[in-house]
Amino acid sequence: MVYTKEQVKEQVNKLVDPSCGKTFGETNGIKHLEVDIIRNTVTVIIGLDKLEDDFKKTVTRELAKLIKLDLGFTGIKTDFQLNKRDTSILSREVKYIGVASGKGGVGKSTVTANLAYALKHLGKKVGIIDADIYGSSIPTIIDMPITPPKGTKDEKIIPYNKDGIELISTEFFLAPDKPLMWRGPMLGKMLNHFFYDVIWDKDIEYILVDLPPGTGDVALDIQKLIPSCKMIIVTTPHKSASHIAVKAGFAAEQLEHELLGVVENMSYLDHKGERINIFGEGGGKIVADKLKTKVISTIPIGQPKNHVSIFTPHEEIGIDYLGLANKILKEY
Ligand SMILES: Nc1ncnc2c1ncn2[C@@H]1O[C@H](COP(=O)(O)OP(=O)(O)O)[C@@H](O)[C@H]1O
Ligand SMILES: [Mg+2]
Repeated sequence: MVYTKEQVKEQVNKLVDPSCGKTFGETNGIKHLEVDIIRNTVTVIIGLDKLEDDFKKTVTRELAKLIKLDLGFTGIKTDFQLNKRDTSILSREVKYIGVASGKGGVGKSTVTANLAYALKHLGKKVGIIDADIYGSSIPTIIDMPITPPKGTKDEKIIPYNKDGIELISTEFFLAPDKPLMWRGPMLGKMLNHFFYDVIWDKDIEYILVDLPPGTGDVALDIQKLIPSCKMIIVTTPHKSASHIAVKAGFAAEQLEHELLGVVENMSYLDHKGERINIFGEGGGKIVADKLKTKVISTIPIGQPKNHVSIFTPHEEIGIDYLGLANKILKEY
């Protein structure tokens, strides 16, 4: 006998989600299920409350037993995603904005931090998750000492507060100047913590996530952890940077993260009113066109007057960032 998709679903719904003890029927844990009659296989995507390796292993084993031994299919392909939870911070409709880039050094972190300040100037309460495990830099950019954050008894993390902006960073958990050697599970755990166990200010409206650059597994895994978010892609005007920024954008789309648009950073140098295209031209537009979105800001080359990296609303580039923040508030 060949079981139909509905019959397979019915059986899978009876299995228990080890991350919360409820059945997949109760958690609405089947995100996708397909039966291939010709190959006699089942493909399933399961949503878990916590994406930890132990849970994934248990579910994979239980599913294989059910689908192959009990129901007689030849094979099963299992994948996981994080359940969108409606507890704690997530129920308060915090809006996540992911900031991604194809490669490092294009100003992703600088844009993230300045956007946070600009949103703050427009009256929004903002948090930042610095999730760039390859080179976290937000603490340095916003000029904050790097010490491990305080925890609570039930292992929640209390974020730092600088100028009213709250921050949690991978950098707080790493020894200074040591290269990063995170193993998968440890990394997953830490980031899970960042997304679900931080006690943010109760009025936080936006959380910006500085994502690791690239389009590979790590970048995707981290993006999968974000409950739901809209994305900004940062690129320089150079064609080579834009080529790989496009890939980062496609990766975001694959996860169904809507794009807010492209920020072309280091766009030009303003030399006495004349624009000099030091890093080439057109990269932002190429990326935006390919991803069917818009260039929402072009930030010129420049440094702030009185701070390491943060511009005030009285500086030209500070005004550019206010413009960017305004555009985002209109859409999100
Ligand atoms: N618009 C800009 N003009 C001049 N320097 C910039 C600009 N944007 C970023 N930078 C500088 O470029 C370097 C890389 O920026 P960063 O934000 O750390 O990039 P990423 O996070 O993409 O690796 C930093 O030294 C930063 O100060
Ligand atoms: Mg960075």
